[in-house]
Parts: sequence; C-alpha cells; structure tokens
Amino acid sequence: MKKAYKVKVFTGIRPSGDLTVANYLGAIEPILNLLKKGIEPMVFVADLHALTDKEPSLTKKFTREVVADYLALGLDPQKTTIFVQSVIGPQLFTLMSYLARHITVAELLRVPTLKDKLRKNAREETANSLLLLYPVLMASDILMQRAEQVPVGEDQVAHLEVTRLLAKRFNEKYGNVFPTPKAYQVKSLRILSLKGKGKMSKSVPEGTIFLTDDVESAVKKVKGAITALEGKMTEGLESNIILAKGLCKSEDDQARVDIIIAEHMAGKKVMGEFKKVLAKVVTEFLTDFQERRKKIVQETGLIESVLDKGNKVAIKNANETMALVESAMFK
Ligand code: TRP
Repeated sequence: MKKAYKVKVFTGIRPSGDLTVANYLGAIEPILNLLKKGIEPMVFVADLHALTDKEPSLTKKFTREVVADYLALGLDPQKTTIFVQSVIGPQLFTLMSYLARHITVAELLRVPTLKDKLRKNAREETANSLLLLYPVLMASDILMQRAEQVPVGEDQVAHLEVTRLLAKRFNEKYGNVFPTPKAYQVKSLRILSLKGKGKMSKSVPEGTIFLTDDVESAVKKVKGAITALEGKMTEGLESNIILAKGLCKSEDDQARVDIIIAEHMAGKKVMGEFKKVLAKVVTEFLTDFQERRKKIVQETGLIESVLDKGNKVAIKNANETMALVESAMFK
C-alpha cells in the first residue's frame, strides 16, 4: 500500500477567470492531448491557492466559470476526474503544516517564483504569508493524491522540486509514506501579444484574445496585429503563426497558413491574406467555444454532477493519505 501511486497524471488550474487563447494553447491543449492518447488525468480547481491574492467570494464564482470553460474546450468529464480543492481543505491544510516543518523559511524565500514575484509585483511588507507557503500547499495537493506525473509549465518546475524535496525529507524521517512525483514538462509556447511586444496577457487587453471576446472585437484586434516586412520572420509573426495553426479546426486552413508564409518568405506581399486567415480561424474558434459553453452552463446540474463525482474520488484519496501520514507520524 505504501509508496504506491494513485493518480497517473495530475494538475491544478487557477480559477482566475478570463482565459485567453494563449492559456488554451499553452495549458489546456496539452491536457486534451493526453486524453487523446488514452491517459485520463485528474484535474482540480485550485481555489485555495487563489486565496493568496483573491477574496473568497470571487474564487467561488470563478470555480464554476473555469470548470465551464474547461468542459467547453473539450475536457471530457467521463474521462477526467475534476474536483475542487477546497472540498479537501482541512486535509490539505493539515498536511501543509506537517510538511512545512521540513522546509526552512530561508529555503522558501529562495524559491525562484517567490523571488520573482517579490521583484516584480509583490513586496515583503504587503504580500500575505500564504505566498510564502504556496509551494508547500502545492506539494500537499500532489502528495495527497499520490500523483505520479504532474504536467507543468516552466514556471512551475521549481514548485515540483519543492514537492519532491518534501516527500524525500518526510519519508526519511517517518518511513516511506509518499511516492515521489515527477514533473512532466510541457513545452512552453511563446505566444506574444498581437502587438508583438511581451507575452499575451490580461494586462495588455488590446493584444490579447480572451475566450469571452465577442467575434467583432476579436477580429478588430487581429486586424491591428503586427506583421512583418516581406521576406522577414519576426518573433511577433512567428507567434501569430503558432496562434493561427493552433486554433485551426481544419487541415485546409493549416495548409493555407503554410502556403501564405512560404510566399511571404519568398518576398510576396501576403500579410493581408494572413490576417484574413487568422481572423477566420479566431472567429470559428470563439464561436464554437462560446456556443458549447452556453449549452454547458444552461444544462441544469451538469457542472455540479461532474464535480460531485470528482470530489468523491479526491476525498477518498485524501482520507487514505492522511491516515497513512498520521499513523507514520504519531506512532
Ligand atoms: N501553481 C499552479 C499554477 O499556478 C496551480 C497548481 C496548484 C498546481 N496546485 C497544483 C499545478 C498542483 C499542478 C499540481 O498554475
């Protein structure tokens, strides 16, 4: 029983609202690809993590929204276990405290994501201390479900290292309780703002396509996108190609993008054509997503029943893990 994995692939999503097409291609599509390969993941909404910088009343609303988004993007609820982190809040915070004993304040302050945050948009004087414990809570998520592989973007690899370190230290002290999880690094896509400068992100809405954008304003943003001089490849154009091809539903459109870009590289003036294809692809993607999402939200009880099913699995795993942990610690 001890040391055995329970979940093959496990990942958490932030209930932050306002997903963008870059989030879709970078974080959601990799999960859909696992499903296509027959791997059934466990996915949870990290509403307790969101408390680090959001009010509880908001995280509740966003939890429902983000589940609707994921289902509409194609996450098959028959093949995915989806749960909400706070249904195992007591177990997680207890485990977090047990694990936190095995890492020092100095070590936590050295976690690169925290250092980065403190350098850019948070200050030690004002950031609440959940920020410091963020990696320990994340370790609790992963170890609680006895997960084997955790698909993470580049920015989360350090947190996975903390998780592995905590599992090792805990096991050394109390016996082999936790199986060690592995990072499954998802290739980072560099999707830039349509304006070409900086990453596509909420902070530059005019260069960002949100899944909630109406088609008209999305097309307007595409029209204002940067292109490149004939025969030249730039980072901005490269990113817009990834976007066009990533969001494409048809092979014909994919092929069309390839042809246009080949012509562009050969010195032809075809950037207008390219924008037309990009606008078409974005329009189809958003229309399809928004229609599906509307149906999902309207179907009474759908989201609740998906979550009910997943929550039960998460609670069962959590209770089993806590029983193991506590019998190892308090024997
Ligand atoms: N920290 C992750 C993010 O910001 C979300 C997350 C929380 C997570 N707990 C996790 C991801 C456990 C994977 C496993 O995206």
